[in-house]
Amino acid sequence: MRTTPKADPALLVVEDDAEIREQMKWALSSDYAVSEAGDRRSAMAAVRREAPQLVLLDLGLPPAADSASEGLAALREILQFNPGTKVIVVTGNGEQAVALEAVERGAWDYVSKPADLKALKVILERAHHMATLEEALRRSHQVPTDGTFCRMLGQSPGIRQVFEAVRRVASTEVSVLITGESGTGKELVARAIHALSARKDGPFVTINCGAIPETLLESELFGHEKGAFTGAHRQQKGKLEYAQAGTLFLDEIGEMSLPLQVKLLRFLQDGQLERVGGRELIRVDTRVLAATNVDCREAIASGRFREDLFYRLSVVEIAIPPLRERGEDVLLLARAVAQRVSNDLNQRVKGFSPAAVQALQAHAWPGNVRELENKIQRAVLMAAGPTIEPADLDLPGGEPAADQRTLREARAQLEKECIQRALLAENGNISRAAEQLGISRQALHDLIGKHGLANPR
Ligand SMILES: Nc1ncnc2c1ncn2[C@@H]1O[C@H](COP(=O)(O)OP(=O)(O)OP(=O)(O)O)[C@@H](O)[C@H]1O
Ligand SMILES: [Mg+2]
Repeated sequence: MRTTPKADPALLVVEDDAEIREQMKWALSSDYAVSEAGDRRSAMAAVRREAPQLVLLDLGLPPAADSASEGLAALREILQFNPGTKVIVVTGNGEQAVALEAVERGAWDYVSKPADLKALKVILERAHHMATLEEALRRSHQVPTDGTFCRMLGQSPGIRQVFEAVRRVASTEVSVLITGESGTGKELVARAIHALSARKDGPFVTINCGAIPETLLESELFGHEKGAFTGAHRQQKGKLEYAQAGTLFLDEIGEMSLPLQVKLLRFLQDGQLERVGGRELIRVDTRVLAATNVDCREAIASGRFREDLFYRLSVVEIAIPPLRERGEDVLLLARAVAQRVSNDLNQRVKGFSPAAVQALQAHAWPGNVRELENKIQRAVLMAAGPTIEPADLDLPGGEPAADQRTLREARAQLEKECIQRALLAENGNISRAAEQLGISRQALHDLIGKHGLANPR
């Protein structure tokens, strides 16, 4: 593996004839850090070990030295390991068809035996130049490593893959299906795609297919003409039309009824729609993103979801991993939320005790980031000191706080929590918080004093 930027580029020579291998090595080692392999297995071992930028690959490798099968298999495996590798295949004389096939399968170039060293050097130099450019380009497109990306936090490999996918699809127009358990950040991902796309200055329109009764969903999506049905007193544009030049986010797409699925598919196919009760075809240019937390493939199998629509919507699928599979992200998110809530509420909470950290890591987070946000917000409110303890988190299996408390303490704690919740909900408005709590403003002021609470803004 190259360690310093000045080191020679790594080149792997895969060739079963030891003599030719030696010649190559001798001719090329002034410009390259050459390693060698005599068959596919040792070639792959070297690829994994050295991650060479360049590979010179003889296609006729043992045990099938007379055909190109081993060489082509090696080509596939090398590119699978790193698609950026520049592989130059070496073929016997008169095997141009095989050489072209290799290029079709991703080889950078080919030379035929016996290789003309001067020509080979030129090819290698060009390949090296291109690989270096591509690497630089990839690096410049990489997601920043500070753990934030379009309002999303995370450093785990799983979430970084999501960020990468978002960046890749954002510049395209393809339909994206975002899948993930409830609370994993599907809507945030959809917003990120929109924000990074060329449509960012257009509208981002959300429609939750699960929250709207089926009969209303159609006119919500497609709009309706005056008199289309009882109660349609005036013409109304649908959400699809409002998404013109922007992005339409279809949340909980798995809940959409079959007849509506047909209508949506038709729109996706021709980019035109008809309002309910309308005759005019309206052209709408919008990009469609969809999300689901149910397994669409299962829904297809049981006939609740149309396969053709599924393929339309899921040209690319971004699967967001559940929080419990994101390792340290739990703590990263917990700290960020604690800090935010603490600031918002003027609380002194600074962090988590070691036991609380352990409890956070042990919990399975079935409600994912949303659950974490709720639990941390509550914990900040509950914490007696600057450090959040396991009991404040109220996680199952944790020490229930009430166990050691006297009735007076429990009452006081509950009182404090209710007041803070009300203040939080009413944005610190004393009158409205008092009303919510069913007490007078003066009583609320007194209680705020008694509990030493700071009023949020
Ligand atoms: N990576 C993240 N970093 C910071 N906040 C996040 C992240 N992922 C999710 N959140 C927050 O978690 C909450 C849930 O996110 P979101 O609404 O996008 O999830 P969802 O998958 O659409 O949930 P549901 O299935 O319930 O609709 C939001 O408050 C969001 O801001
Ligand atoms: Mg959502």
